[in-house]
Amino acid sequence: MSDTDSLQTRDARAVVHGLTDLSLHAKRGASVIQSGKGVWVRDIHGRDYIEAMSGLWCIALGYGNERLADVAQRQMKELAYYPLTNHKSHPPVIALAEKLLAMAPVPMARIWFASTGSEANDCAARLAWYFWNAVGQPEKRKFISHRLAYHGNTIASASLSGVSYAHDKFNLPLPGFLHVATPHFTRHAQPGETEEAFSDRLIADIERLIAAEGAHTIAAFFAEPVMAAGGIVVPPARYYEQLQHLLKKHDILLVCDEVVTAFGRTGKMFGSTTMHLRPDLLVCAKALSSAYIPISALMIGPRVYEAIERQSGELGLFGLTMTYSGHPVASAVALETLKIYEELRIVEHVQQIGPRLLDGLMHLRDHPLVKEVRGIGLLAGVELTPGRGRECARVAEEEGLIVRAIGDTIAFCPPLIISEDEVQELLRRFARALDRVYATGR
Ligand SMILES: Cc1ncc(COP(=O)(O)O)c(C=O)c1O
Repeated sequence: MSDTDSLQTRDARAVVHGLTDLSLHAKRGASVIQSGKGVWVRDIHGRDYIEAMSGLWCIALGYGNERLADVAQRQMKELAYYPLTNHKSHPPVIALAEKLLAMAPVPMARIWFASTGSEANDCAARLAWYFWNAVGQPEKRKFISHRLAYHGNTIASASLSGVSYAHDKFNLPLPGFLHVATPHFTRHAQPGETEEAFSDRLIADIERLIAAEGAHTIAAFFAEPVMAAGGIVVPPARYYEQLQHLLKKHDILLVCDEVVTAFGRTGKMFGSTTMHLRPDLLVCAKALSSAYIPISALMIGPRVYEAIERQSGELGLFGLTMTYSGHPVASAVALETLKIYEELRIVEHVQQIGPRLLDGLMHLRDHPLVKEVRGIGLLAGVELTPGRGRECARVAEEEGLIVRAIGDTIAFCPPLIISEDEVQELLRRFARALDRVYATGR
């Protein structure tokens, strides 16, 4: 048995993998990645791949960023850890919170930190409950989110998620987590329906649901500005405009889950800006540290924060705490990441390079396997004829391109720093994969 074989076998014997068929994994073993530089990763056999999914939608600055590694090392030496409990703080978390408040797409009052997107969404749900108790409406406890939305995998965030794999056999969702139609026009429009009529129909359905449940029982609506793991869904502009009117009318909080969309992904610094959303709470993670270290942030709007502060004063304590909330090393890395985005003018770069990717994929629309191409910024989905997604992702990997099959849709979410040449190489590899899959299926 060679060294490389033994790594694959050792993995299969020791590690549990998410979003993986575990019984198949026991037989086939892992694809073990050894190193990365920029948009490229190399496996233990020395094969190079373009990481067109940024890992899990996250390594925005690409691999091998020395500045981030140096900042982490410096902070570990200076102050490796300190809690934020009992009035304690430290310089990196203060600077990061100030920076995020200054960048926020709408005025925000304070930042709560956690380690992952799931935790931050969980905390958003907890804060919504805490808020409604503070303002004397304790019955406002239910949440609404979209079918196919992905909000994470803690018990609350998995309940918010609208994907069956997060629920089935896990006894989820919990009661009080309601799901409404995915605002995916091309998939769910009725024959002859315009985008406007489609949006109006979905909004009317949500209004009926709110009436049936009672607006006095609904705490918040969770929405991704652009749905990522749901298959790259850009809702029609009218849909979010109408949704916000509805939420305002019924005094329901809007939580924007920007775990994927924050920090340039959609061609604006925040997806909320791209989609004209004005959230009461905003969750970000992933690109916050370019995935170099786990950290997530929950931006809290003034109305919610004032009530939280007052209630915690009455109780003598704000009872939410996490050991790693505002971890100094993670805070320092995130702060440096945000600095690098500014220096690289990352938003302008995405505005320039995003259309290259999307136009290139659009050119493949005539391919017999392609049903639809959609996307925004550096986020794209190519929907294939039914049943070909997984096979296409596998063949793409053989062509040196890592993408993700979400059902029949191939998702692209490359590092934000991807260059023009790398986009062209990505497109060539994907086109070859499509041709090969088509040739084998004929
Ligand atoms: C939109 C969205 N929200 C939340 C999460 C959960 O984040 P994490 O995996 O860091 O818990 C994800 C993860 O992919 C996501 O895409």
